[in-house]
Amino acid sequence: MDASDLDRDPLRQLDEWLEAARAAGDPMPEAMCLATASRDHEPSARFVLLRGRDEGVVFFTDYESGKGRDLGENPKAAAVLHWYVPVHRQVRISGAVVKTTAEESDRYWASRPAGSRRSAVASHQSSVVATREELEAAVAALGGSEPPRPERWGGYRIVPAVVEFWEEQQFRLHDRIRFVRDDDGWRVERLAP
Ligand SMILES: Cc1cc2nc3c(=O)[nH]c(=O)nc-3n(C[C@H](O)[C@H](O)[C@H](O)COP(=O)(O)O)c2cc1C
Repeated sequence: MDASDLDRDPLRQLDEWLEAARAAGDPMPEAMCLATASRDHEPSARFVLLRGRDEGVVFFTDYESGKGRDLGENPKAAAVLHWYVPVHRQVRISGAVVKTTAEESDRYWASRPAGSRRSAVASHQSSVVATREELEAAVAALGGSEPPRPERWGGYRIVPAVVEFWEEQQFRLHDRIRFVRDDDGWRVERLAP
């Protein structure tokens, strides 16, 4: 793999690899491990689903969750996607994080099944609950309703400053091509594996 094999826009290149993984049978190619850090630099990582791609990558969550708290204190994140098919690949993204607009969050909220919307309303993500029954009772109390999006639920967009493409090669002499945002676009460089 060479820089000339990749799109000049690293996010379009990400789309291409993600769709290649999906076409090759990866059941959840949009799973993305998201790392955040608190004000005290305490790191934390978890998977989220990449749900949109424009000038950044978008995921949705509870703003009052652990990640939401971290991002409130320190609005930066790193994310990584990894696929075995059609080729063994990894993409790393890092940059500043901003909330999506209320309209974007509403639109995504409306696209979710009603049951998932009720679960999100009943579950204050990452708070401690005594029992599963307590959660189920909170969902049951909502009946068959279609609740509006709670203020605490919405999207974040990672606006990448760095995007790195990794592809396996023989004898661990893997290819790594890194895009670093600069004044007039992207600087592209090769890294030792
Ligand atoms: C494959 C996968 C995808 C997930 N996608 C999301 C997601 O899009 N949004 C979300 O809030 N949690 C998602 N989760 C759950 C998170 O990993 C995590 O448990 C939750 O967001 C709470 O994390 P936090 O306490 O660090 O905020 C996903 C989990 C897995 C395994």
